Amino acid sequence: MKTDVLVLGAGAAGLMCAITAGRRGRRVLVLDHASKPGKKILMSGGGRCNFTNLDTSPANYLSANPHFAKSALARYTPADFVALVEKHRIAYHEKELGQLFCDESSKQIVRMLLDECVAAGVRVETGCAIQRVRHGEAGFSVATSRGELHAEAVVVATGGLSIPSMGATGFGYELARQFGHAIRPTRAALVPLTLSGKHLEHYADLAGVALPAQVQCGRQSFRGGLLFTHRGVSGPSILQISSYWEPGRELRLNLAPDREAGAWLVAQRAARPAAELKTVLADLLPRRLAQRLGELHLDNRPMRQYREAELVAIGARLHAWPLVASGTEGYRTAEVTLGGVDTDGLSSSTLQSRLVPGLYFIGEVVDVTGWLGGYNFQWAWASGHAAGEVA
Ligand code: FDA
Repeated sequence: MKTDVLVLGAGAAGLMCAITAGRRGRRVLVLDHASKPGKKILMSGGGRCNFTNLDTSPANYLSANPHFAKSALARYTPADFVALVEKHRIAYHEKELGQLFCDESSKQIVRMLLDECVAAGVRVETGCAIQRVRHGEAGFSVATSRGELHAEAVVVATGGLSIPSMGATGFGYELARQFGHAIRPTRAALVPLTLSGKHLEHYADLAGVALPAQVQCGRQSFRGGLLFTHRGVSGPSILQISSYWEPGRELRLNLAPDREAGAWLVAQRAARPAAELKTVLADLLPRRLAQRLGELHLDNRPMRQYREAELVAIGARLHAWPLVASGTEGYRTAEVTLGGVDTDGLSSSTLQSRLVPGLYFIGEVVDVTGWLGGYNFQWAWASGHAAGEVA
């Protein structure tokens, strides 16, 4: 059967692009080397897929060109995806901060996309390796483990490098380079941070301790849960800031974001003069953390022995606790890959290559990376839709 549009990658972006192009009457074939489509959708959101964020705006994305995502995001919005979810009678809820999750299972999202593929006449083939892509006057020829295929348009939707065990490869970047596209340096993002040396010694046995915090790196800060792990720190606030952190940059943790800690400690001194600082701090922080900070860093003594100025200074430290990370856990656990195909080489309205007509790059392979909270899927849907409207 003849193919108009060949989509490489049956993930979120590829399936949405295929559905959109198929609905226009294009003959679409989606190829994936994995054993089944949408593996990352299946594992997302703890199995419930945080499929969009109601508050999506271009400000929630990192890219060398912060304007690039605007056009696609404006033309396929969270409301458009919600309408699709409702059409398929998938129950969902808002968890917090505009994040929408399935009530039951992320399998429903994959099922929905595959049903839409069938309705749009799209064929999806898994377990198919892509060996080579060539472009000539007659369009594209693609060598695969199932033989040679020809198409007018090729859409690269092979995602980023995170979770290689799920089928992630650098294929999209290699293909982009082959056709003359620049690649912005890639690194793991939305990823736990690791500590080393004395920094790890101070905190490693706190693994499992969690607290609400505000984490800052330069001018960017995020509020959310912070979790100590055996290797360092994790939790939503750390995953968010990891996209902005680079080796050598210091992080500041506000360990008491809901209280003016200095004034509170001064009041506690009046109320409990004989209590030790670490005991008092256990009313503000998880007990094990309070003990560790009190003993190791704050010269633990009975409250009456601290001058007011000292308590105010301790409060200030709790609001800006320095944390020196040594690295990240890397692609093995990262949710996304920062960087990717340079947007300078792509049209922001169609995601088409400016160098090779008929070639498109969509989803995570592009240098557009969302925050934690459903923004990455929204980019996958929006960029897939934008390319599917024209490919
Ligand atoms: P995606 O990775 O989905 O798809 C790429 C496809 O290409 C894969 O099917 C892969 O097998 C295929 N492929 C790769 N190389 C190939 C090759 N050489 N040949 C053939 N096929 C190839 N985001 C969000 O918004 N909400 C959430 O809840 C989560 N949760 C989450 C949890 C976890 C554990 C991870 C790792 C990630 C998330 N994300 C997320 C991020 C989200 O999953 C991600 O941004 C999108 O899946 C990106 O969609 P793409 O279609 O671009 O790539």
